Amino acid sequence: MAKKKKLTTSAGSPVPNNQKSLTAGKRGPVQLQDYQLVEKLAHQNRERIPERVVHAKGWGAQGTFTVTNDISKYTKAKLFSEVGKKTEVLARFSTVAGEKGAADTERDVRGFSLKFYTEEGNWDMVGNNTPVFFIRDGYKFPDFIRTQKRHPKTNLRNPTAMWDFWSQVPESLHQVTILMSDRGLPQTPMHMNGYGSHTFSFWNDEGERYWVKFHFKTEQGHDFYTDEEAEKITGKTREKYQEELFNSIEKRNYPKWKLKVQIMPEKDAEKVPYNPFDLTRVWPHDDYPLIEVGELELNKNPDNYFQYIENAAYSPSNIVPGIAFSPDKMLQARIFSYADAHRYRLGTHYEALPVNAPKNAEVNHYHKDGSMRFFDNNSDNPDAYYEPNSFDGPVEDPTAQEPPLKVSGDISRYEDNDELSDFEQPGNLFRLFDDAQKERLFNNIARAMEGVPQEIIDRQLQHFDKADPDYGKGVREALKKHYG
Ligand code: HEM
Repeated sequence: MAKKKKLTTSAGSPVPNNQKSLTAGKRGPVQLQDYQLVEKLAHQNRERIPERVVHAKGWGAQGTFTVTNDISKYTKAKLFSEVGKKTEVLARFSTVAGEKGAADTERDVRGFSLKFYTEEGNWDMVGNNTPVFFIRDGYKFPDFIRTQKRHPKTNLRNPTAMWDFWSQVPESLHQVTILMSDRGLPQTPMHMNGYGSHTFSFWNDEGERYWVKFHFKTEQGHDFYTDEEAEKITGKTREKYQEELFNSIEKRNYPKWKLKVQIMPEKDAEKVPYNPFDLTRVWPHDDYPLIEVGELELNKNPDNYFQYIENAAYSPSNIVPGIAFSPDKMLQARIFSYADAHRYRLGTHYEALPVNAPKNAEVNHYHKDGSMRFFDNNSDNPDAYYEPNSFDGPVEDPTAQEPPLKVSGDISRYEDNDELSDFEQPGNLFRLFDDAQKERLFNNIARAMEGVPQEIIDRQLQHFDKADPDYGKGVREALKKHYG
């Protein structure tokens, strides 16, 4: 048998006893000098870090992305440079509203986060399982999230707040329709698509820009639970997704997604009859068809959940040359918000944690010192501690500069002013559902409206009516069926 390792203090000194406190006499009190007891208790008190302010409950795995189609004419991003190229990925899926211990099988939007460890740094695709979102302006995000979390007095989730908000923010109807449809309760994280949701941009070696939307299409199919089925599962286990994802990978039944993109030439953004940067809208697939890019496979369970999944810090600000942002107002808010959240949740140098550090690119920056500066503090070239310097410190790389973007207009706070109403796309989506899907939608909505004051319900019903008269009618009938 292999010789067992010696238990030591965190300073490396052997521990003589890890079971019995040091007491004054057999029945006497504990001695303060029992430093290891104090240390053990103090460490336990510090085991939890703050949970994510949203998307606290999550499940993750490691995997590989493989390019299957050449899109290098659109982007110089090296991860897409040739067919067959493979890049390591860390995935984290999540629900939005529930806390870290919440049940997995709750109706909610699901997060779909991917970290691609590319040779030009990490690219984070921090998306959802929906192609749109509830709001189109980051100003509204903290209020929206408050409606999803607990009431300050009852400490209960509050459907009144949810519908009060949604009924006063009609741009939410598209996402509300998806949330209340079958897509709002996938059976496992493997049975859902992932979407970048926002419009991002690609730019190529010629300095041409394309607007792009990312779609990760599940190869496992879109299995979903009805509310009734989910209730039963939640009664048996709160950890259904963790069990399914973990066990599937352990059994080498690796889940896969096809990455496809919609590409819009830069100039088209001025021509299309909708704002292509509006997160509450999709681009019609007839106008911008899906182009295959590659395949994502998850094939390894992380050795330690905390180290890999709880410590994972995803941010839409993590882009690589060839992939960039767009003028989407929501995206702009997110570019700030995530890194700020990580500094609070994980600490100043969160990007140096092994799961967040680039695996395939060098990191050379001039940030210095601070808490957590346990990694090299540029000690191999101490004279180069500012920029510019004459001591061979790291220098900028102008080839990483995206092409200039022309913008114009007066600085102000604008209403959305495109030609489509907030009801057109939700109506189109509703009309795509078959009768059984519509019936489930009506009933899911009715159930979710339990206890909501009538005036709020009436305001929301008007939105359903505007999307499609049959939508409003169906919800009214379901409400009658459930509550008389
Ligand atoms: C998590 C902010 C909209 C997807 C988070 C976190 C914050 C945040 C602060 C917690 C980060 C952490 O502690 O690790 C915002 C703001 C938004 C916004 C301010 C709007 C202005 C969105 C949208 C999507 C999205 C539109 C999807 C398209 C996610 C995902 C996570 C997350 C997937 C979990 C990341 C992980 O797995 O660690 N968001 N969010 N968020 N958000 Fe957002």
